[in-house]
Amino acid sequence: MMLNPSRKSGNRDPAITIRRILKVNHAGEFGAIRIYGAQIAVAQRLFADIVPSLKEMRDDEIDHCRLFREAMPPRYAKPCRVMSLWSFGGCVLGFLTALGGRNMVWICTEAVERTVHRHLEDQLTFLASRDPDLHALIASIQEQELAHLREAEHNQKRQGPSHAVLLPVIGGLTDPHDLAFDVG
Ligand SMILES: [Fe+2]
Ligand SMILES: [Fe+2]
Repeated sequence: MMLNPSRKSGNRDPAITIRRILKVNHAGEFGAIRIYGAQIAVAQRLFADIVPSLKEMRDDEIDHCRLFREAMPPRYAKPCRVMSLWSFGGCVLGFLTALGGRNMVWICTEAVERTVHRHLEDQLTFLASRDPDLHALIASIQEQELAHLREAEHNQKRQGPSHAVLLPVIGGLTDPHDLAFDVG
């Protein structure tokens, strides 16, 4: 759930792109916390065995959210003004996928983390020479997101038609690329 800085921002002041990266990453982590929160609430009732893994991942996202928030003031960045949307969207997605069962929970995690990974890669390229501190922070966060992705892939018992259909749908839903440029 990250911003790809390469499009639409070619000639822009890098500081503006950096502020947008922080804004979208922070909001994305916030949404991820909500996804995991809703999934945990459902899983506790229907398939409690995966709750510990989900809680571990949520704890990581809480960390990431805090780290992006802390990186904002020195760069004059501010949180997204519509955090309630990210919160609501995350809850709905988490709730619906959890109702689909544990396999769907992991498909959701795989889709979200794939989107995250792609955007973090773009951001790292952009930041390497422009903001080495933020580059280092995102590189360390990316390691944990990759671990989430690997675990989600590993936990899927089967990858049938629902995997093929849902992966691009959830990936698209959670890709804030265009939204990122409009939410100010
Ligand atoms: Fe995260
Ligand atoms: Fe993650």
